[in-house]
Amino acid sequence: MTTHLTLLTTPPGAPSAPTAPADLPPAAADGTRRLADRYGRVARDLRVSLTDRCNLRCTYCMPAEGLEWLPTEQTLNFAEVTRLIRIAVELLGIRQIRFTGGEPLLRRELAEIIAFTSALRTDEGRAVQTALTTNGLGLDKKVASLREAGLNRVNISLDTIDAERYKSLTRRDRLHHVLRSIDAAVDAGLSPVKINAVVMPGVNEDDIVPLARYCLAKGAQLRFIEQMPLGPREQWKRSEMVTAADILARLQGEFTLTPASEPRGSAPAAKWDVAEYPGGQLGVIASVTESFCGDCDRSRLTTDGAIRNCLFANSETPLRDLMRSGASDAELATAWATAMWGKLPGHGIDDPGFLQPDRPMSAIGG
Ligand code: 5AD
Ligand code: SF4
Repeated sequence: MTTHLTLLTTPPGAPSAPTAPADLPPAAADGTRRLADRYGRVARDLRVSLTDRCNLRCTYCMPAEGLEWLPTEQTLNFAEVTRLIRIAVELLGIRQIRFTGGEPLLRRELAEIIAFTSALRTDEGRAVQTALTTNGLGLDKKVASLREAGLNRVNISLDTIDAERYKSLTRRDRLHHVLRSIDAAVDAGLSPVKINAVVMPGVNEDDIVPLARYCLAKGAQLRFIEQMPLGPREQWKRSEMVTAADILARLQGEFTLTPASEPRGSAPAAKWDVAEYPGGQLGVIASVTESFCGDCDRSRLTTDGAIRNCLFANSETPLRDLMRSGASDAELATAWATAMWGKLPGHGIDDPGFLQPDRPMSAIGG
């Protein structure tokens, strides 16, 4: 950014675009650049948190009460979020976008945001792939319109199929609503419908096998996720966590598993074919014990318009105020690229000096 531009676009006292670090590769002649970092990774996948609100209160994610929502004026409005999505795709090489929350179905303009995103073309000339990570509440009623808006895939969170346990885990008695939504998503042809289950010690280990049977019978792809230290602080102890190896051992006691043949790429799940259910697959995401940071191709945009280059980053780059003070697309793209350039090689959860991020998962987006 030149001084002249600063004077034109930035009112006194407003934030100015951070200067790009000297070693940030320059943009191409047409103004586009890639979201590369110093370690050679290139972000192609953007997670956009559309709200920090949620209609559940999963114990590992939120406190029962007392979590304050962001005031509306601090969150990105429709014009702002779609502008940043367009910049990500058209100037920064993002090829797929996953909408998260909080609970993204609570965002009123969700279908419009998906339609806007699906109409964008990537640097390869293809439609942007869109996905949704949701708790499933109310998805059955919205899935047809979201599909029509261009939604390609959906991940539904489900940590137990026991109604009582669901109620104590999420602090809401809504299991039947989620199950209905899983059926609706499968019927709508959003395949593969993926189900995310976080496994927590002493909470839902006994659900591993019943959940697997349920999802395999429904034709949904279940992925077990190692719990990461992102929620209320007392909820996670490395020494007590249920590891991917523990999960696999339980599954192997019940099913005949062989490693799936397709290449894994930057996908975090190790996938297994299940002999007892032809065509059926189970996945295990070892976010802690075998972190996949080296293959990470993600960038994250928070509800209030900050870029996080990692779920566990201890700093973020706010774009909202820069945008509101009149920054150009190119300035926003440079600030974003600078934020990604500083991405650390790994989250270091397993390191003794690990620090949990300040923001709760519900405000970062999964
Ligand atoms: N560890 C792992 N996964 C988590 N999720 C939420 N909190 C955690 C955590 N601490 C998952 C949810 C949902 C997605 C948004 O992230 O289960 O599937
Ligand atoms: Fe809501 Fe997801 Fe957090 Fe549960 S994990 S409270 S569904 S945001």
